[in-house]
Amino acid sequence: MENEKNIIQDLIRRAMKAREYSYSPYSNFSVGAAILSESGKIYTGCNIESASYTPTICAERVALFKAVSEGERKFKMLALVGGPKNGEKKTEEIVSPCGVCRQMLYEFGKDLKVVMADNEEKYEVRMLEELLPYGFGPDNLI
Ligand code: THU
Repeated sequence: MENEKNIIQDLIRRAMKAREYSYSPYSNFSVGAAILSESGKIYTGCNIESASYTPTICAERVALFKAVSEGERKFKMLALVGGPKNGEKKTEEIVSPCGVCRQMLYEFGKDLKVVMADNEEKYEVRMLEELLPYGFGPDNLI
């Protein structure tokens, strides 16, 4: 039986690998994400930027959209890793999902575990509902 720590660390490793593919020539801030579906599959993503800036998409949404486009609808856990490519961080804080990604993840369930990691040993786990309290989601619409 895989324990939760192994699952978390595996997801972090996959997010770290995905981060290597980050296309972020404008911000030089690279992010990788990995999302575990209820079916047990893992989908990864990295941030992808645009010269016109606004079409830029975060790693979390790339991972989520890959999964949803493969038919997945329910998710257990998402891990993300990120920071400046040169490693010089302004704060010691671990990267956390932006508001747009929190909203998009909320669409598929507030019970998602979000693992915000620097590496396999240094991470924090929060429920999506903690990151987006009083969120607006599918239940609010008829
Ligand atoms: N970014 C992510 O991929 N995920 C986050 O949670 C925070 C921000 C990306 C978007 C952009 O390419 C770069 O990081 C700087 O904002």
